[in-house]
Amino acid sequence: LALNGLTYQLVDLPALFGERLYRLPVVLRILLENTIRNREGAERDHAVAALFGWLEHGSSEAEIAFQPGRVLMHDTTATPALVDIAAMRDALAEAGADPALLNPMLPVDVSVDHSLAVEAYAQADAASVNLGYEMRRNAERYRFLRWASKALDGVRIHPPGTGIMHTINLEQLATVVATEPGNESRPGWLVPDTLIGTDSHTPMINGIGVLGWGVGGLEAQTVMFGMPTMLRIPAVVGVRLSGTLRAPAMSTDLALTVTQRLRALGVAGDFVEFFGPGVSGLSAGDRAVVANMAPEYGATTGYFAIDEQTLDYLRTTGRSEVQIALVRAYAQQVGLWNDPAGEARYTRVVEICLDQIGIEVAGPARPQDRLHYAQTAAALHALGFVAQSASGALPLHPVAIAAITSCTNTSDPRLLIAAGLLARKARQLGLKPAAWVKTSLAPGSPAAASYLKRAGLLDELDALGFGIVGFGCTTCIGNSGPLTAPIRDMLRAGSGKPVAMLSGNRNFPGRVHPDLDLGFIMSPPLVIAFALAGDAALDLSSDPVQFAPDGTPVYLGDLWPDSDELDRYVRLAGDPGDFRRDFENASLNPVWHAMEAPDSPLYPWDPASNYLQRPPFAAASQGSLLGAYTAYPLLVLGDDVTTDHISPASAIPPDSLVADYLVQRGEDRGDLNVFASRRGNWQVMLRAAFHNRTLVNHLQGGIPLAHTLHVPSGQLLPIWEAAQRYRDEGDSVVLVAGERYGTGSSRDWAAKGLRLLGVRAVLAVSFERIHRSNLIGMGILPLRVPAGALSGAAALRPGDRIALSAEAASLRPRMAVQVRLHRRDGRTDIVEAVAAIETLLELKLLGDGGVMPSILK
Ligand code: F3S
Repeated sequence: LALNGLTYQLVDLPALFGERLYRLPVVLRILLENTIRNREGAERDHAVAALFGWLEHGSSEAEIAFQPGRVLMHDTTATPALVDIAAMRDALAEAGADPALLNPMLPVDVSVDHSLAVEAYAQADAASVNLGYEMRRNAERYRFLRWASKALDGVRIHPPGTGIMHTINLEQLATVVATEPGNESRPGWLVPDTLIGTDSHTPMINGIGVLGWGVGGLEAQTVMFGMPTMLRIPAVVGVRLSGTLRAPAMSTDLALTVTQRLRALGVAGDFVEFFGPGVSGLSAGDRAVVANMAPEYGATTGYFAIDEQTLDYLRTTGRSEVQIALVRAYAQQVGLWNDPAGEARYTRVVEICLDQIGIEVAGPARPQDRLHYAQTAAALHALGFVAQSASGALPLHPVAIAAITSCTNTSDPRLLIAAGLLARKARQLGLKPAAWVKTSLAPGSPAAASYLKRAGLLDELDALGFGIVGFGCTTCIGNSGPLTAPIRDMLRAGSGKPVAMLSGNRNFPGRVHPDLDLGFIMSPPLVIAFALAGDAALDLSSDPVQFAPDGTPVYLGDLWPDSDELDRYVRLAGDPGDFRRDFENASLNPVWHAMEAPDSPLYPWDPASNYLQRPPFAAASQGSLLGAYTAYPLLVLGDDVTTDHISPASAIPPDSLVADYLVQRGEDRGDLNVFASRRGNWQVMLRAAFHNRTLVNHLQGGIPLAHTLHVPSGQLLPIWEAAQRYRDEGDSVVLVAGERYGTGSSRDWAAKGLRLLGVRAVLAVSFERIHRSNLIGMGILPLRVPAGALSGAAALRPGDRIALSAEAASLRPRMAVQVRLHRRDGRTDIVEAVAAIETLLELKLLGDGGVMPSILK
């Protein structure tokens, strides 16, 4: 391709495959390009044949290698990954090799976004106060990240204040089409921009035509060190959009609708591609919101192909015209341009008419439980909560948190401007949020402050308590800070059941705040409306949001911005210069750059550190956990165990086992930071495993938080102590769970914790994709078992033991594995399980004992 006076080489897919190419979904065309460019000989021929063979059935058993162009991480997944690399460097040095040889082979971008907490809010200096807390609490960990950026080639850290990883990716990092340098004798390459990210919401970038998805930190390590990520050619679900998304509906409402529809259909592990006449009317911002929630609908991707809307977005966010021309020319030439009348085939097609979407919410405990916004009351009352004492001045379900938060719904300027316009009307009418509501606005990038200011809406938001508290994940990851005093009193008295209202993507019990079990997801303007109402059980379609000071009832319709007004303000706010300039200014974070960091190829571990400890599993000596054995179930869990249950991210409760441990080591019980910040310290994370008070251990009903039954002794012990006892006594342990085990995030600690507990296999009815891969990355065998066979309240009794034979030599992907249940009363039952191993690379990793021993080999 010749453009702008330069010549590039490319894989010309239409020239190679003709009309056949256009029958493949665009996502598979990108896999095809990747295969042709990176594989050779018979491997390449097989992969190409398999991709076209997919057309016959819309599915394939074939496994192909995918070589992403870059890796995206955030501070709480990057820290443990970089700690692992630091420990592997030690292992190399101890073996007499040069540790500096161990370097990532791809660019790695790390956003420091997950550690910002909402300590201060509704005050003018909230953002700088919160940033101050963050820098102080995390100084040791941040110094380590600074060391990593100096010691490891290609690791680039985006400091606190620069925004949320997925927003940064959309606005700054993604090139959509990447250029690979050439030399005098050979022109450079043009290739699709592709990535993996250690965060489940990485598919947000699919909104602008970049193929990427979330993986666990362990899988990311394999990719960083030059191995491809292996995948079975996925089913591709086509979502055909028709009609137009109209006011009052917004992209959040579409995302919640898609989430509900696709979750009900079951698309776990599938690629999703949006197509049809409705696509072109959606802005890239709208698309990114929908793509972001791919993990909530269970898919690996939520892809939108490149078109004029993509180019408009690149222009709006300040990308150069040269780059934009390159994207257009490449996408059109290579067959990656969106074609509304395209002939692509899909495994299944789902129809969604955009005209039918209204104002939606999802909750009160799962993102797929979509409701019309008027139905929150019904959903809450259906829970049947009865107050244990008089409720005082607060409603039964007060809004405890109203947070405009998360990459999902703060990266699209239209959503934040809608919130600003609603705030302006509320202010004009003299409304204020209820006194017990903790309000906050944490946008995905600092450009939001500029465009809201230019539109004259920042002050309006400020006046309602929705001033900016910082640029990071905050409430979305559970860093909500303390609740208000009236809500704390209510929780203590049991006089009500408070609710979080947030513009995030997850509302699992305890996710947003350890003391809140209930939450609804919604668009930013609706968050403000519920903050004004103060009552999560109000029917805002008929009840007034609030009464104005003169007694006039104010309804949601009086406040909601109309579409013309919204369009006008979005235009008013736009200035492409903001995006790059604000990002660069934030990158200068002076406290960050002033931090001293070691300047050595090996990290100097401090044995007294409570944040960073050399982990035992980053060593070649970690053996394989496969084999034939009889095990005790360490825990028997039910359905929907999330990674938040397995390894929490939120604040460390001062009365917890982890708190006791940290206090013993000299920390202040009142200021323990969040679990996520401790992921560089395996000793803490081991004790944090399954630290969730909503989790039920069916092994023996009513087991207190983070304890389990050590069956041989009959004692209730902290889980890690029980695990230690089993290990010391030479007993194996496994874990039993129900459907969707490991739902949630990509955190590898959910698997590392199990490895440290000695768990050799997890027997679950079904696994969430990323967590399954993380288990394998830690050498733990995932086995699928039939529903009801093991999990649930009565399937296993204390004293029952599980025998299985899973030897490395005989195991194969997806093979049947017989599990024998030796009952305490002497009976034996047989359960037919299936090895949840998808690829031969995964089998190799299990045989090696996990990713790290494999890299060190
Ligand atoms: Fe952060 Fe929540 Fe997005 S944790 S990356 S804002 S999903």
